[in-house]
Amino acid sequence: MSEKIRILISEEEVDRRVREIASQISKDYAGREIHMICVLKGGVFFMCELAKRITVPVSLDFMSVSSYGDDTKSSGVVKIVKDLDQPLEGKDVLIVEDIIDSGRTLSYLIEVLKGRNPNTVHLCTLLDKPERRVKDVTVDYCCFEIPDEFVVGYGLDYAQKYRNLPYIGVVEFETD
Ligand code: IMP
Ligand code: MG
Repeated sequence: MSEKIRILISEEEVDRRVREIASQISKDYAGREIHMICVLKGGVFFMCELAKRITVPVSLDFMSVSSYGDDTKSSGVVKIVKDLDQPLEGKDVLIVEDIIDSGRTLSYLIEVLKGRNPNTVHLCTLLDKPERRVKDVTVDYCCFEIPDEFVVGYGLDYAQKYRNLPYIGVVEFETD
């Protein structure tokens, strides 16, 4: 079996939309500072592109999470593999994610972060697959809603590959 990538959202389209969202965020946070939290590794490319285009002051922090495995999947409890370096007390937090799928990871993470007394917590995602949702998550900023297909590129991987593609594509499997 080999894989082929079909372009779903071109580099130009992603770029245009990231600029739009960045300008909306800059307006919404006028007069404030944004503490952006990137969920590794998928969110890295999006966070960089977004942060470069935001015009209010920005600080960055990173965290890495992994799910506990299938038996606890429905509980949505995730393990924090790498925690943030800085406290969130009084900060206006903007979580930056690559994709919201079932919503389990983010609904859990938002609760954990809210417990650290930030001023506000909002969520910005590159992609959203609303059809797949099992846990409610309020998505404040979303670049694209996509159908239930497995996508790669712009940070998203398939078995750690394809994160560096400058566009978003669907993985198609072919028998050789
Ligand atoms: P969930 O919302 O808790 O189900 O988890 C979302 C996470 O699953 C994302 O942060 C991605 O790491 C991964 N994921 C979900 N859908 C895709 C996809 O289409 N391509 C690549 N990773 C995905
Ligand atoms: Mg992710």
